[in-house]
Amino acid sequence: MNLKSVTIRLKKRKGNDMKNRNHTIMILLASLIVYSLFITGCAPEDPPDQEVDFHTFANVDEVVVTHMDLELTLNFAEQVINGRASLHLNNITGTEQVVLDTRDLTIERITLNGGDEETTFTLGDFVDYLGQPLTIDITHATDKVNVYYQTSPDAAALQWLEPEQTAGGRHPFLFTQSQAILARTWMPCQDTPGSRITYNARVEVPEGLMAVMSAENRKEKSPGGVYEFSMPQTIPTYLLALSVGDFEFRHLSDRIGVFAEPEIIEEAAWEFAETDDMMEVAEEMYGAYRWGRYDIMVLPPSFPFGGMENARLTFVTPTIIAGDRSLLSLIAHELAHSWAGNLVTMATWNDFWINEGFTSYMTNRIMEAVYGREYTEMLWHLDYQDLIATIEEMGEDNPDTRLHLDLRGRDPDDGMTSIAYIKGAFFLKMLENNLGRERFDDFLVHYFNTFAFQTMTSEHFLSFFRETVFIDPIREVQADDEGEVDLEKRLKLDEWVYGTGLPDNIPKVHSDEFARVEDQIEAWENGVAAADLDVEDWTTHHWLHFLMNLPEVLSHEQMTELDATFGFTETANSEILNAWLLHAIEHRYEEAYLALEEFLLSQGRRKFLMPLYSKLAETTEGMELAQEIYREARPMYHPISYNSIDEVLNR
Ligand code: BES
Ligand code: ZN
Repeated sequence: MNLKSVTIRLKKRKGNDMKNRNHTIMILLASLIVYSLFITGCAPEDPPDQEVDFHTFANVDEVVVTHMDLELTLNFAEQVINGRASLHLNNITGTEQVVLDTRDLTIERITLNGGDEETTFTLGDFVDYLGQPLTIDITHATDKVNVYYQTSPDAAALQWLEPEQTAGGRHPFLFTQSQAILARTWMPCQDTPGSRITYNARVEVPEGLMAVMSAENRKEKSPGGVYEFSMPQTIPTYLLALSVGDFEFRHLSDRIGVFAEPEIIEEAAWEFAETDDMMEVAEEMYGAYRWGRYDIMVLPPSFPFGGMENARLTFVTPTIIAGDRSLLSLIAHELAHSWAGNLVTMATWNDFWINEGFTSYMTNRIMEAVYGREYTEMLWHLDYQDLIATIEEMGEDNPDTRLHLDLRGRDPDDGMTSIAYIKGAFFLKMLENNLGRERFDDFLVHYFNTFAFQTMTSEHFLSFFRETVFIDPIREVQADDEGEVDLEKRLKLDEWVYGTGLPDNIPKVHSDEFARVEDQIEAWENGVAAADLDVEDWTTHHWLHFLMNLPEVLSHEQMTELDATFGFTETANSEILNAWLLHAIEHRYEEAYLALEEFLLSQGRRKFLMPLYSKLAETTEGMELAQEIYREARPMYHPISYNSIDEVLNR
């Protein structure tokens, strides 16, 4: 069933439910509308259609791409991909033009159907963030367009790495990052989360390198450097991914494995060994994993994100390999996307929370099921602090603190804030608390099953939630059941999704473990020596809470004492180091500057780089240091990272 028919069905059912409700209210409402029409003289404005994606040029209402065949030849010397993309069309309205998204692509020629017939096309004006529309002339009978093209060395989705930027240091590396709207920089496509495709690909790489995609993958190198892929399940284009380099594979279970450079494959296999436990509990809670295999690709350190949920093949930063399995919630997060996001996908970037809020909630549920309640209370607590700080910084009336966003005319990456992730997660936690865990879990399973391989808007989610929970025919609960009416009021659904700031029914967080940490901070402030604090059994999360709740002003002596006692400057844990370095900059603790420089030069994760460079940029002296380090570091960063940092450092 496609989305349109689901929407219509829902609207119809909503109509029936209304009938069952209260006729008098309906009549009253109708008279009110007629009356307001009478006095204003025009029809009330329709709310904007939440399914319209303003970040694509594609004419998806007229013609949809259902499948792509890709032929890609990688040229590391020139840092370009030469490609042929054959797009299979379903021409719904018999249109004579198909419009695709492109950005920084050179289009060589385009043929139709079997490939003999060349056709005409135009590349439109460049629009900020979006790129250029590629308009191709077709007929109502065209079932395939074949686009011959070349990427630019500046393609934002691609990072071409020199051998020195890899762990092995001997082979070049390439990886892609298509989310949010960067797939169009490495292939012409209908680049919208509202459409889904299957794909096959044939990829030619220099001999000795291995290639993997977000598809079915072979696990060993191909002697000739040619790799074939097939992706049988439908995905939105932001999940298209390719990684090429000198790496190996290790099985972690019969359906889970890890790819990494030979130098780090053992560490990686050890760190991620518990992924199968997460898969097991996730399936138990949310239904079967529907993608066949789940593999993890450990990228070189310049990967700009922590993780990316490419279908069947999560990409991760090596900075989560802490040596003690303490940063695995990131794996739980990317795994949870296999349901939230990859299976039921936001229709547009305005509903980014439909992907990330659900995923963040489910991450903590998976972590709780595997590692227990105490552990997860700490995760919720850290999330909450982050959310409060974000809202304080943005201002609680800021429209961007709404779950349903308005990103028209802006970069969809602007939506990548703690609002989508954490406000979204707390919204679902609130629903869980009010409905009870069992009832809410049943709802989620029903949601994933009903909308598998389809898209979702905020509006649609709310109507589905209301109809399932309040007017559930199976439970025979009536809409006018008093308890239920009361419940609907308590939930404040619209306020959560369309309102700014935080509704007052946000669940409270409490962590006994963190209370212990706070006691120790207090003791230290009251004169107990750092060496005498009770930090036995502290995990990464205890330390993070400790670092994030230290007093605002710290003397050089205090910084030195903490460092000498707990060895923060020397830590191999990227999260702890990041939190410590922020203090080091704030308090000019120069003993840590070498470590700071080394950290900025050795990894490219935007989540770490941005706060550190921003903190440095707060003072003249810090800004100078930042500029100096950045001159050396910038060429090693991914475009996603350096574009953000350029702004902070006024470049
Ligand atoms: N899908 C996101 C990454 C993303 C979002 C890339 C928007 C581009 C645009 C991924 O699942 C994610 O959220 N990664 C987080 C880690 C997570 C544990 C919060 C990251 O990389 O920091
Ligand atoms: Zn995510």
